[in-house]
Amino acid sequence: MHREDFNLLNTDIIYFDNGATSLKPKAVIDSILKYYEEYPMNAHRGDYKLSLLTSNLYEETRVKVKDFINANKKEEIVFTSGSTESLNMIINGYFKDKLSSNDEVILSKSEHASLILPFMELGVKIKYANLDEDYKLTLDNISKEVTPNTKVIGLSHISNVIGDKRDIKSIIEFAHKNNILVVVDAAQSLGHTLVDVQDMDIDFLAGSAHKMCGPMGVGILYAKEELMREIKPVYTGGGVTVSFNEDEIVYKDIPYNLESGTRNVPGVIAFSKAIDLINLIGVNNIEEYITDLKKYLINKLSKLDNLEILNSNVEGSTIIFNVKGVFAQDTSLYLDKKNICVRSGDHCDKMLHEVTGVKNTVRVSLYFYNTIEECDKLIEALNNPNILEESLGI
Ligand SMILES: Cc1ncc(COP(=O)(O)O)c(C=O)c1O
Repeated sequence: MHREDFNLLNTDIIYFDNGATSLKPKAVIDSILKYYEEYPMNAHRGDYKLSLLTSNLYEETRVKVKDFINANKKEEIVFTSGSTESLNMIINGYFKDKLSSNDEVILSKSEHASLILPFMELGVKIKYANLDEDYKLTLDNISKEVTPNTKVIGLSHISNVIGDKRDIKSIIEFAHKNNILVVVDAAQSLGHTLVDVQDMDIDFLAGSAHKMCGPMGVGILYAKEELMREIKPVYTGGGVTVSFNEDEIVYKDIPYNLESGTRNVPGVIAFSKAIDLINLIGVNNIEEYITDLKKYLINKLSKLDNLEILNSNVEGSTIIFNVKGVFAQDTSLYLDKKNICVRSGDHCDKMLHEVTGVKNTVRVSLYFYNTIEECDKLIEALNNPNILEESLGI
């Protein structure tokens, strides 16, 4: 779908590393060029036409993001540099002062480092919910870890390695009944599945534009208004205060109190074009298309007896596997010789191997512009008894 929007797809490159970052459509690239050529101003700084134009375009993206995730108000959206910064701001700006050393946080070993590490650094007690036999995270397993001390559950909506989509709505409903707040890492789900923060009753959410056809260095932090008002600025500086003197700092209202310094203004403006494209295709159509493509790929790859696939029973956009007897990185290098881009390693989930028993894997991650023909080329490349020799050039 929409392959004509991506110049790289006119070459012989097959891009299967969408979990790391997606390709950028021409409309996003053009928007960045337009910014630098026509109104390369800072947002919310100048009292002249061009700066006001820049500020308006920046704020238009905020409204677009609000609508995209169905937030109640645009003030519930803060622009950050990515999911990592959003999660650090939520955890250090909100939870750091609210949690004591007796309080417990529930995570799982299938979460990204950007969610686990900021909680670890707080020094609170972390409980890791078990994964089921398919390495999925379920409400049942989360609920087993809950005690009267549980204050937060942190989880990705779609996990970045196994690719399981968590039942966010039920998990949050359960959490709220137990007075627990939920931090949703939506890095892998925005642009892949419907995210409706009001319907799901999400407290805090983090996302990255670059994984949904947007530019690098732009992220979103969503929080319900009353929670957003309690997030303390982790970074302070230019643009966030009304006034300060030796005795007092008066911060601006949300969301501007949390957007210190110069933001990625062209990136935020161009992010709008990525949302337009995803809206044009329809996120439900994207999800359906990728689910079918994954089924096709899994079906064919399962027939190759040189492969060990870890997540065959999981719907979603990732396939995690190893070629028997071949180190994951060597498989990537072999595929790269055929211009097929995949990722290998631990994929920033440094504890998942404690559950799966497999430290490094190859990850194929799909997006809407991938095709059956590209999948066939991958299958053909992997259906080869000499992958190790060919990757090493021997
Ligand atoms: C589930 C998940 N969370 C967080 C991140 C961090 O995103 P970013 O690098 O855009 O900050 C990623 C990136 O791979 C991810 O997959």
